[in-house]
Amino acid sequence: MSEVRRLFVCTNQKSGVGEDVAKALKKELKIQGLKKLLTGGEKQRVRVQTCNCLDLCKQCKKGAGAALIVYPEGTAYGNVRPGDATEIVAEHLGRGHVIKRLRIDH
Ligand code: FES
Repeated sequence: MSEVRRLFVCTNQKSGVGEDVAKALKKELKIQGLKKLLTGGEKQRVRVQTCNCLDLCKQCKKGAGAALIVYPEGTAYGNVRPGDATEIVAEHLGRGHVIKRLRIDH
């Protein structure tokens, strides 16, 4: 059975950066060929979804970036900008490494 991993990106900022982050993540998933992953023998599909507010607004509205949460593990990233998408896809989704500089507690 295949599992779905989801990235929820907050788009509640006035700047619209969350939409740009979501677009950049989708583009990177295609470029890096990671829309469908094979992790530990399990097939995984990856979906990027936008949402209104993740209750992480300090990390979202105050900086230039957006907050996002990766499920099912629940890792939260704050102040994410479109330019961070390559690293999030390659490191977090591709290699399973949490990106410490963007990680936030929630
Ligand atoms: S406004 Fe983005 S987490 Fe609340």
